[in-house]
Amino acid sequence: MCGIIGCISNKPVAGMLLDGLKRLEYRGYDSAGLVVLENGVFRWEKTAGKIKDLEELLQGQTFSGTIGIGHTRWATHGSPSTCNAHPFFSCDNSVAVVHNGIIENYHQLRQELVRKKHRFQSETDTEVVVHLVEDYLKAGYKPIEAVRQVCRRLNGSFALVFMFTNHPNLLIGARLNSPLVVGIGRKEVFLASDVPAFLRNTRRVVYLHDRQIVALAQAGLRQKGKQTLHIIDFAGKKQSYHISQVRWNIQSAEKEGYAHFMLKEIEEQPEAVRRTVNYPHLSVLEPFTERLRDINRVILVACGTAWHACLATKYAMEELVRIPTEAILGSEFRYALPPLDKKTLVIAVSQSGETADTLAAVRAAKEHGVFSLAVCNVVGSTLTREVDLTLYTFAGPEISVASTKAYTAQLSVLALLTIRLAAIRKTITRNMEDKLLDELRQLPNKMKTVLRNKKIIEACAEAYKRVGNFMYIGRRNNLATAYEGALKMKEISYTHAEGYGAGEMKHGPLALVDGSFPTVAVILKDCVYEKMVSNIREIKARGGIVIAVATKGDKNISEIADWVIETPQVLEITSPILAAIPMQLLAYYTAVKKGREIDQPRNLAKSVTVE
Ligand code: AGP
Repeated sequence: MCGIIGCISNKPVAGMLLDGLKRLEYRGYDSAGLVVLENGVFRWEKTAGKIKDLEELLQGQTFSGTIGIGHTRWATHGSPSTCNAHPFFSCDNSVAVVHNGIIENYHQLRQELVRKKHRFQSETDTEVVVHLVEDYLKAGYKPIEAVRQVCRRLNGSFALVFMFTNHPNLLIGARLNSPLVVGIGRKEVFLASDVPAFLRNTRRVVYLHDRQIVALAQAGLRQKGKQTLHIIDFAGKKQSYHISQVRWNIQSAEKEGYAHFMLKEIEEQPEAVRRTVNYPHLSVLEPFTERLRDINRVILVACGTAWHACLATKYAMEELVRIPTEAILGSEFRYALPPLDKKTLVIAVSQSGETADTLAAVRAAKEHGVFSLAVCNVVGSTLTREVDLTLYTFAGPEISVASTKAYTAQLSVLALLTIRLAAIRKTITRNMEDKLLDELRQLPNKMKTVLRNKKIIEACAEAYKRVGNFMYIGRRNNLATAYEGALKMKEISYTHAEGYGAGEMKHGPLALVDGSFPTVAVILKDCVYEKMVSNIREIKARGGIVIAVATKGDKNISEIADWVIETPQVLEITSPILAAIPMQLLAYYTAVKKGREIDQPRNLAKSVTVE
């Protein structure tokens, strides 16, 4: 996944491009570049490394161009290097392009272009695009038509932004399976992968849809920034558009004094869950009551952390709604298609709404007439436009690659949906419904209590910062918590960690246990409490270390475990929301003590928009 930005203004744009790229750095950060148009020629810099390396390159240079495009990369084709950094240019240096996505048929296109004597500067898939546009321009097509012809020849996913030396006030953007949003300011217009890139300048946005092309023009300096915005689809048909107002502000996308976005976002969880639970989701579901009453099967589909939210929900859905429910990995779904029909409810869960495997699963499911619903954190993302209904999480922008507040917000929305489904199908009483909803409303305060465990969790991280392995165990819906805890530890501290069903320890993993092997166990006062106590006794009997996430005041656990992180008493349906917080903090403090990158872990990107 990469970050792209374009800007036309009535003043130099290089600073705004750089600022925008910094706010997109969570999308990719192994190389970066930008180009502006000055006196009819392109002036550009690009480099391997982070945006701060690009900034150093620009130091001392004056870029006066009032139109430009920029890019921060997460490599998919071609190693992170200066020559593979975007932007790319046509042979005659009249066209520049930046791209987010993958051109799947780039190889045959490149062969065709080489036969036509085009010269390539990089190993990337993107570069074929700019040479194709060059050919159509030379054949007499106008820029938007040239771009349209090229879009029809590309397979895969792309958000593209073009600039032209012969059209000094024109940017053209196009998207397929990759986000692209227009920002309309008073003095400038933007095209970017995501809203934070230009939120400092404007909150007026137009979300482009798949298979749309936008031409953004800014009249010259003299005409006081008169702007025009023209959208067509890949068939050339003019498209209407809606200007919406972004609801959150730029501070939400900034660290605001925290050492890392991850810690800020962990701390934001009570507020994120409060906003999410208080939003009238149930009224959004109202018009679909009949359809929801008729379903006879639920399939939850997602990837990574979002899939853990699905797994935790499966238990609650089956228990309260009494309906067969499965949690299927997005990357598995379409290769092992489950039975689907119009009585199946497919719930796709995604923070970004751009995860390729989750999108592909929804598209495959919709071919069978299912009722599709999304739980998503990004308004206007691709997923939200492909389903029948979206329930938004109101976590605000989640910048850190490691998902935290989006996860607990997803669990909250899914709990609300579960309660609603049970009420519609009368599998719970009104009294039970009120009790469960009240529990959700009390959650933010209980989460604040759990967040007060930071000191003991940091001490625990200090004690085990050198171990090579962690085991995480849980049962029922807190098996998902075990998986999530292990994922957090892996992805930001780079320490191996494994989530496992606690009941499975005797069937093999117990052989791993010795004095240097910590096991994090979720042991709450619930229906499997006694079983969990037996599991940690087995571990202790073999000299293992136990870090227990337990119910506040549980003296029994304090006598058995080496470390106890206390959480308030909570109903089972919401316990994974509270139990997630110690998992997040343990991974965070371990990673900090190991000097890891935290917000941008190696090899990872915030949203996996490629398969
Ligand atoms: C979680 O910490 C990871 N960043 C990753 O597993 C993530 O949850 C997964 O890629 C799904 O992303 P999505 O929610 O945007 O679809």
